[in-house]
Amino acid sequence: MNSIPTSSPLLDWYDKHARSLPWRTSPEDRRLGVIPDAYQVWLSEVMLQQTTVATVKDYYVKFLSLWPKVEDLAGASDEDVMKAWAGLGYYSRARNLKKCAEMVAQELGGRFPETEDGLRALPGIGPYTAAAISAIAFNRKAAVVDGNVERVLSRLYEITTPLPDSKPDIRTAMEQLTPEDRPGDFAQAVMDLGATICTPKRPACVLCPWVDPCTARASGLADSLPRKAPK
Ligand code: ADE
Repeated sequence: MNSIPTSSPLLDWYDKHARSLPWRTSPEDRRLGVIPDAYQVWLSEVMLQQTTVATVKDYYVKFLSLWPKVEDLAGASDEDVMKAWAGLGYYSRARNLKKCAEMVAQELGGRFPETEDGLRALPGIGPYTAAAISAIAFNRKAAVVDGNVERVLSRLYEITTPLPDSKPDIRTAMEQLTPEDRPGDFAQAVMDLGATICTPKRPACVLCPWVDPCTARASGLADSLPRKAPK
């Protein structure tokens, strides 16, 4: 059975099965269209750049309790920020975090930019993080592509070109699939699907909301994609 993939079965699945994570709004709030605060999205996405969800959770909660607003983080000492970051690794992230908070608090009136270009001008915010903040915190249609998204879309569209050569095709696919109305939920739904169902090994295809349109599933290739070019 093969149909054209659309965002709706995945969004319906997300409404029932989204992981409950401290930087996300509640299911009730999501239903009402309540969007999370940009400072909170930024903080979580910077932490998640090179660190797992399981490790980030406690650090995220600790940072928010120490510094509930971007102005609080901007006013903290470098030493306190580095101390709170200890254990997360990649310490340039902590230095950029502090610099970025200062720029937002002092030069941007405490408000994060809404566009990917505006966000990318800030320290520590690259293409992935800019797209994630723009989509999740501002409901802007941005294509958010991380490793989970690469795996899910490589399978959905049976992209057999190895990574990284397939990146442009994956990006185009994500741009086309991302809906106007819930781009942030959609991005996080693809991430959750990749983390819980469309896993690197032994994907649980019978549970997948995209099993029908999944081309790799139909041809028995799901668990061998994405291919990776030898290093
Ligand atoms: N990894 C990076 N960002 C994430 C998010 N918002 N939700 C779950 N996993 C993530």
